[in-house]
Amino acid sequence: MKQLVAPSLLSADFGNLRPQMEMINRSECDWLHIDIMDGVFVPNISFGFPVLKYVAELCRKPLDVHLMIVQPEKFLNEVKALGAYSMNVHVEACTHLHRVVQQIKEAGMKAGVTLNPATPVSALVDIIGDVDIVMLMAVNPGFGGQKFIPHTLDKVCALRKLIDESGSGALIEVDGGVNHDTGRRLVDAGTDVLVAGSAVFRAADPLEEIRFLKNL
Ligand code: DX5
Ligand code: ZN
Repeated sequence: MKQLVAPSLLSADFGNLRPQMEMINRSECDWLHIDIMDGVFVPNISFGFPVLKYVAELCRKPLDVHLMIVQPEKFLNEVKALGAYSMNVHVEACTHLHRVVQQIKEAGMKAGVTLNPATPVSALVDIIGDVDIVMLMAVNPGFGGQKFIPHTLDKVCALRKLIDESGSGALIEVDGGVNHDTGRRLVDAGTDVLVAGSAVFRAADPLEEIRFLKNL
């Protein structure tokens, strides 16, 4: 399977949201990645549901929602109301991760669990059979445009092994610092989904950049 590409809305030009979403709709990308922050779980705040309602109306690609907030289950209904394809919660933000994963699936969305750079892949041993997506952060979450943490490549390999041995069908998604070079290495290591914020939206030709990442 060719890797999926999910441009991250965080790096879009919000003054030109409509043309930016028209570009996304025309592009070869697979999902639109949406970062929601609360200023508590991460030291930044992005956008909330009133803005995302407008994004959801404009965007025809499936929405991949990444919640960088404490107690993300409190907003399950809001994420569902957006028509989201997937809901990714941080392992570090959920005391009862198993329950949250079941709730996401019962709500009809793909369940994604996300690991911060310092959280080991082994934290997933008892949940891997229940999830649809595992997302590895290749930067500390909260900001776009950060440098890729190379150890993420080892984590992709460890996760691929865990998925294969457990018989799980989970996709491996990587978020942060994805560019031509790191994207190539991530795909070689077994990554299924590349999230790219600044690489896409700050490129001279975002459509061409998406095509490049899609054909790595
Ligand atoms: C970071 C976000 C990422 C961010 C990636 O907290 O989760 O999705 O947009 O941005 P780049 O691709 O610029 O590292
Ligand atoms: Zn993200």
